[in-house]
Amino acid sequence: MYSTMVDRIYTDDVIEPDRYDFLSIVFHWATLLLIGLLFWSASAHEGAQDGDTAARLLELHRSVGVIIWLLTLLRLAWKASGGHVPALPATTGKLQAIGARGTQWAMYALLIAQPLSGLLQSIWRGKAFPLLLGELPPLVPRDKALMHLAHDMHEWGAQLFIAFIAVHALAGLFHGLVRRDGVLGSMLPFPRTARCRNQG
Ligand code: HEM
Ligand code: HEM
Repeated sequence: MYSTMVDRIYTDDVIEPDRYDFLSIVFHWATLLLIGLLFWSASAHEGAQDGDTAARLLELHRSVGVIIWLLTLLRLAWKASGGHVPALPATTGKLQAIGARGTQWAMYALLIAQPLSGLLQSIWRGKAFPLLLGELPPLVPRDKALMHLAHDMHEWGAQLFIAFIAVHALAGLFHGLVRRDGVLGSMLPFPRTARCRNQG
């Protein structure tokens, strides 16, 4: 009888945290690591002292950029087919919910568009370049105007990325450290607070 009571306390009263599934969490934090590597390699490339180092950093940058693009396609396919997205806490206002989801979709759009502008910029140079342990041959003749257009888009994309990531990461940390409502925990591998499931 005692064990039945204990079972009931644990099955009825413990709040099950509503969290992202394991694979979505892996995709999220792997993306953060790769984004860090991309910004670092771009800035180290700009500051490189010799041509050899600059070329190797650009090769790393391009390859990681293509990897993050492929990872994002897989991530979106997983999200569409089975990935679990927890409901927002009941206290979330309508505008706040639109802001949070809008920022997330903007980041998905950038994760798709930014590697493409980088790739087009490189392709329109009209020269072969090393990519992902191989080499991409020249696909089109050199086109300076299109190359500059893609370069500008890549630069603007990077600025937008920084803005969205800053807002998003600060909001996530605010939820985790100030509100303590389980939103940050829902994306951490080991959550410390439960998240109330009330709203879609
Ligand atoms: C999410 C993915 C990516 C991010 C966040 C990113 C970010 C950046 C940043 C911050 C810069 C320096 C600013 C600039 O000069 O435009 C840069 C430069 C560059 N990126 Fe990317 N990049 C990404 C993907 C790619 C890919 C896939 C390629 C090519 C395959 C690429 C090729 C380049 C090139 C060629 C430059 C210019 C280097 C120069 O001429 O100084 N990027 N990228
Ligand atoms: C310190 C850095 C970061 C923190 C603390 C953080 C935190 C979070 C949290 C708590 C969520 C869940 C939010 C919710 O359910 O409403 C989330 C979702 C998300 N994060 Fe981050 N994040 C960080 C960096 C990034 C970066 C660098 C990217 C992409 C470049 C990113 C892209 C996303 C996306 C797309 C989602 C939505 C997932 C989905 O529902 O499909 N995050 N993040």
